Amino acid sequence: MSKRQVHIVGICGSLRKDSWNRKLLFNASQLLPNDYRFTLADISSIPPFNEDLESQLPQPVTDLARLAESADAFLISTPEYNYSVPGVLKNVLDWLSRPSAGAPLALKPVAIMGATPGLFGTARAQTHLRDILFGVNMVPVNRPEVLVPQVHTKFDEHGMLTDATTRNFLQQLMDALVASIR
Ligand SMILES: Cc1cc2nc3c(=O)[nH]c(=O)nc-3n(C[C@H](O)[C@H](O)[C@H](O)COP(=O)(O)O)c2cc1C
Repeated sequence: MSKRQVHIVGICGSLRKDSWNRKLLFNASQLLPNDYRFTLADISSIPPFNEDLESQLPQPVTDLARLAESADAFLISTPEYNYSVPGVLKNVLDWLSRPSAGAPLALKPVAIMGATPGLFGTARAQTHLRDILFGVNMVPVNRPEVLVPQVHTKFDEHGMLTDATTRNFLQQLMDALVASIR
């Protein structure tokens, strides 16, 4: 019988087509072991959380919950919006924290990172995100902290990360995530 592949699910806190954080996720996924599977979650159709919808989950939420259920660990890349995480990311974490969705995040490892054209590298958003992950009972990788400031200077026109220092941090983060999966 063939061995089941370890599955990492990526969540991008930005819905923007040319999101730097999505590019960062794809670059990070290429630093995972070759036999790992990586899937980027599509969160673009997730409706605003509403307890009234829990008796019959919207299809996009059911699909996302099923994907999350199949994950051995998660990788989140978040922009910073007004010193915190974007509402769309918090919304997804709220949905997936619920028993109605099977609470597929609880007790699973998660690595986080974030990119911004600004100077502070999403430090404030990531601090908030760690609080939220504590609330949903995930198991965060604490180090390295991957903050990517001035992100627009660190990729080529094909979306490939060109900055060696950032790549090194990404590799360390992927190694730490792999080590956290039992
Ligand atoms: C509503 C809003 C608030 C923002 N607030 C911050 C902020 O507090 N700190 C920061 O570094 N960048 C802030 N930005 C700039 C984002 O970091 C920038 O748009 C970034 O490229 C978004 O990530 P993405 O490229 O993955 O979409 C803000 C952008 C928006 C749209």
